[in-house]
Amino acid sequence: MAHCAQAAFFVVATWPVWAYPSFSKPVKILVTGGAGFIGSHTVVELAAAGYTPVIVDNFQNSERSVLQGLERIMGRPVICYEADCADTSELEHILQREGNIAGVIHFAADKAVGESVQHPLKYYRNNIGSTVAVLEAMQAHDVHNFVFSSSCTVYGEPEQLPVTEQSPVQPAASPYGNTKQVCEEIIRDVVGSGARLKALSLRYFNPIGAHPSAEIGELPLGVPANLVPFITQTAAGIRQQLSVFGHDYPTADGTCIRDYIHVVDLAQAHVRALEVLAGQPAEHSYDFVNIGTGAGASVLQVINTFEQATGVKVNYRLTDRRPGDVVQIYASVEKSKRLLGWQTQLSLEQALVDAWRWQQRLQGR
Ligand code: NAD
Ligand code: WQD
Repeated sequence: MAHCAQAAFFVVATWPVWAYPSFSKPVKILVTGGAGFIGSHTVVELAAAGYTPVIVDNFQNSERSVLQGLERIMGRPVICYEADCADTSELEHILQREGNIAGVIHFAADKAVGESVQHPLKYYRNNIGSTVAVLEAMQAHDVHNFVFSSSCTVYGEPEQLPVTEQSPVQPAASPYGNTKQVCEEIIRDVVGSGARLKALSLRYFNPIGAHPSAEIGELPLGVPANLVPFITQTAAGIRQQLSVFGHDYPTADGTCIRDYIHVVDLAQAHVRALEVLAGQPAEHSYDFVNIGTGAGASVLQVINTFEQATGVKVNYRLTDRRPGDVVQIYASVEKSKRLLGWQTQLSLEQALVDAWRWQQRLQGR
């Protein structure tokens, strides 16, 4: 049975060591928050690309059973440390013990916008504290490649669409959003200080969906704040009714528009990002790039696509606007194509089918 090593001292050996497959690329990548929604899918894609992912997670927003799902998909053991990424010394123990870590993908953070307004210090401590600790540990152990989970939230309500990376970063609408902006600045400053660091911030748009195997997916705690988990829970009868927040926006059908990206596509972008960093001759570099599909979908379009793709009706009603929502945002994908040689492969329909399959799997547990 999969389990996670407590603190930073023991490697998980869910399979005997002799059973470890030989990788074509025996390169280890530290994945903080690797048991979470996006992290777990990235672990799968890293392994598929021949890397050895090493997860660090304290399971504050994920379940240990994710590790078993990962092992079933990957057909190989998962290396995982249960540790707090805001603790530099724990991270240093892990880097020391593993040795040879070629890069870090840093997902670990709190991510609930509303909660961040209620509890800003929790967000500043965890999100900024973790980023600082991870960078400190990397410096101490000569790890130079860093991929950071940023967000399209840094653009606020963009003046032009699709939103390019030249669009100004707007004053953050929440402490959560502010942590992403501050972390991007911290990374830029560390690179600017002359430290040996090659870093890339990926500004995700709206990640949705699940692995097509339905072994891993999103695990919203309590009532989901995000649209797609609310749709799948309503379709499953867990929630009585979905509220569509606002129907008088200046869009074709009056509902807000977002760029919904399949989490498997997003995961693959991380693998590309690492490869691009590794191939860069520069010792100090920092850049940021949008990670989206390039296409927007309205709330009603998402609901209709879900119903058509799954054959399941969603009980919804049109309600008042949700304070703080931007009207519409979707990514310019020119830079991600140019810089990463990457673009999305999977459709909104596929993402919704996979999200629904995952919801049904959760029901059966
Ligand atoms: P998630 O909550 O599913 O995953 C985060 C993981 O990090 C969880 O497993 C959690 O237990 C772990 N974690 C949190 N703090 C930790 C700490 N101090 N030490 C160790 N582990 C810790 O979230 P997600 O949706 O996978 O998001 C991953 C990253 O992507 C976050 O940085 C988030 O801000 C960013 N992001 C997410 C979205 C989105 O809509 N999901 C959009 C843009 C950016
Ligand atoms: C999408 C659309 C809602 C729920 C959030 C964070 C952002 C980023 C991604 C991390 C909006 C509407 C939603 C519901 C609805 N995360 N909606 N009924 O707001 O684009 O972004 O997640 O960085 O920072 O703010 O995503 O899924 O909450 O909403 O009508 O019950 O669905 O109004 O138009 P959002 P979302």
